[in-house]
Amino acid sequence: MPRTNGSVVGTQVEDTRICVVMVGLPARGKSLIAGKIVRYLRWLSVDARSFNVGTYRRQDTPQPTADFFDTSNKEGERMRRAAAEAAVKDMLKWFSQEKGTVAILDATNSTRARRRWIAETVSAHKIEVMFVESKCDDEDLIMGNIMEVKTTSPDYRGQDPEVAARDFRDRIRNYEKVYETITETDYTYVKLINVGTQVVINCIQDYLQSRIVYFLMNLHIKPRSIWLSRHGESMFNLEGKIGGDADLSPRGMRYAEVLPELCRQSGILPEQGITVWTSTLKRTIQTSQHLPYNKLQWKALDELDSGTCDGLTYEDIEEQFPEDFRARDDDKYNYRYRGGESYRDLVIRLEPIIMEMERQENVMVVTHQAVIRCIYAYFMNVPQDRSPWMEIPLHTVIKLTPKAYGTKEERFKANIPAVSTFRPKYSSAKHQEADSPDVNELSVKMNV
Ligand code: ATP
Ligand code: F6P
Repeated sequence: MPRTNGSVVGTQVEDTRICVVMVGLPARGKSLIAGKIVRYLRWLSVDARSFNVGTYRRQDTPQPTADFFDTSNKEGERMRRAAAEAAVKDMLKWFSQEKGTVAILDATNSTRARRRWIAETVSAHKIEVMFVESKCDDEDLIMGNIMEVKTTSPDYRGQDPEVAARDFRDRIRNYEKVYETITETDYTYVKLINVGTQVVINCIQDYLQSRIVYFLMNLHIKPRSIWLSRHGESMFNLEGKIGGDADLSPRGMRYAEVLPELCRQSGILPEQGITVWTSTLKRTIQTSQHLPYNKLQWKALDELDSGTCDGLTYEDIEEQFPEDFRARDDDKYNYRYRGGESYRDLVIRLEPIIMEMERQENVMVVTHQAVIRCIYAYFMNVPQDRSPWMEIPLHTVIKLTPKAYGTKEERFKANIPAVSTFRPKYSSAKHQEADSPDVNELSVKMNV
């Protein structure tokens, strides 16, 4: 059985422990990058957690003005150092007591002295140290960042955004007086310059570090959305059978016909560049057939392989393999079909897809129930005990729009009924008609 930390099947973590130390002036995307690393690693079952020094500092100094960050302000210096020490202490406790694998120390860590202190403290506990510096001198981008996320930060709650932005600009000036970019060639580091336009890498030591570097190299912050849809209702869906390579049902064919219009309503403009990815199975290819966009088939997007249960109904499985049926409900994420896959296996298979999705701008993915659950879990940060049990209805387009600190979700339902393929935990449910959809029903939520 794969462990949830330490040695993880498919990701070869072994006994590695890494402290990723963020470096950079304020408003350079450090917290955003830290959050993304944590989400990516957790999705791969690597136990990861971010320690944000600002959160510790806020306990004593909730709303400081820029002069608090002036290095000639001795009291400010003392309190900032105390906040950093408290974060490092909690981080080390997390490594030793909770057996964490990757911690992110999220602060500016902008001087050589501060970095030396962290490197020495952390290495003494036999934890690898990897610095990730974000450098950016695009003034418009930085001003945009300040307006987007800093004026609404708890540091400026209840304050005029213009005044907050000016104060934050002054805070940056104070940091600039002492900021030293990384030049310590004996450290492991990645330097991301102007949002990855240039990437400098030094002394990467092992597999997990190289995965993190590769992930960072693929990130971008251009506005974009990701559209997800299951294939239209298939003949196997109608019969309640799993797996297979069936054609669409007549209602599934109708979904394929209305999909271009549904996409338009959900914000895909005909002139907009978008690529549609499908699996290699007939039902996703048929579903996307009327979409007037470039298409790409990925084997990695094929449905979870149900092995010897392929082509059976849930009732058949319950009857023929009662122990397996029960075991799957007990731990659906880890249960591997005989001769087939588990959700955990599927996540590993989908890792290159996620990497490519990070690189892409607008993309639409037409695929299958289990596959969408895994992709959705990545973007919406859904834990493994919940992700295999999420309802992803047929004949619905899910639009995900990454924002600074979360992902916005919108759902667009087609007005075409379909069976429900969702079977709740510990039920021996028969497949049934889904509730009749409201015309183009739209729901919006935000995950942060
Ligand atoms: P602070 O030191 O104040 O905590 P920070 O460096 O952690 O600041 P974030 O809060 O993460 O900054 O800033 C988020 C903003 O940075 C978002 O608007 C995001 O689009 C932008 N951003 C993300 N990545 C980068 C990058 N590599 N360079 C510059 N800006 C980025
Ligand atoms: O200025 C941004 C900030 O995130 C503060 O909220 C926080 O107190 C500080 O950086 C942490 O970095 P440092 O270790 O340089 O004080």
